Amino acid sequence: MAKFVDTIKRSTMSNIIIAIDGFSSTGKSSFAKLIAARLGILYLDSGAMYRAVTLYAADHGLISPDHVVNEPALKADLDGGKVAISFVRDEATGRHEICLNGTNVEKRIRQLDISNNVSHIAVIPFVRNFVDDLLHRYGADGCVMDGRDIGTAVFPNADLKLYMTADPAIRAQRRLDEMLLKGETADFEAVYKNVLERDYIDSHRAMNPLRKADDAIELDNSHMTIDEQMVWLGKVLKERFDIDF
Ligand code: CDP
Repeated sequence: MAKFVDTIKRSTMSNIIIAIDGFSSTGKSSFAKLIAARLGILYLDSGAMYRAVTLYAADHGLISPDHVVNEPALKADLDGGKVAISFVRDEATGRHEICLNGTNVEKRIRQLDISNNVSHIAVIPFVRNFVDDLLHRYGADGCVMDGRDIGTAVFPNADLKLYMTADPAIRAQRRLDEMLLKGETADFEAVYKNVLERDYIDSHRAMNPLRKADDAIELDNSHMTIDEQMVWLGKVLKERFDIDF
């Protein structure tokens, strides 16, 4: 079979857009960060932006304990420029961390109270439009971006689309290990419940639900190490763009 090599894309790897979608805790962001570092392009975490908006809502009393969002007030604040999202480069790691109104909130947005609310914020169409604008502004010139709707809605013409899945119990265990490593307290059941809840909300919402784009390549990494994933991706990039990764 003749090998298809896209020579135009190969010559512009710095402008390549790689979209990685999938369920929570499939390791999208670790994978995306490594790919970005290896290709020397920007990594953008769309989930972090939804989490930052969620943190803003939580800090301003705009979301109730049973996840009811004060949408008019949140919309007024987004429209009024009161929710400024930016990035700072961490000199030690070389990675970009997210700031909300000038404060680095990279760690805070990963805590369970934000995880429990974020999908309720991310179903709101005006929030999705707000985040989409940011993603287009930061990512249009080339990036690796991860999320739920990048290949289907944000960058439907992405050069390469990956769709990541893994067994929910394995994903919950990964998330728990990550939290324990950071010194946070959590138990498996609570994290597992959050994973299942978000899977459901993310794939059933009306606007841009999580689904595999027709032209995405599926990767089930339940039993793969990150090194094995990089080898897998190397083959994909060689096949698609004739680049040695
Ligand atoms: O890290 P994890 O995969 O658990 O989640 P995340 O990428 O930080 O995203 C947090 C939440 O934001 C998801 O559960 C979705 O509800 C929402 N999200 C979304 O709706 N669309 C995206 N493109 C990215 C995240």
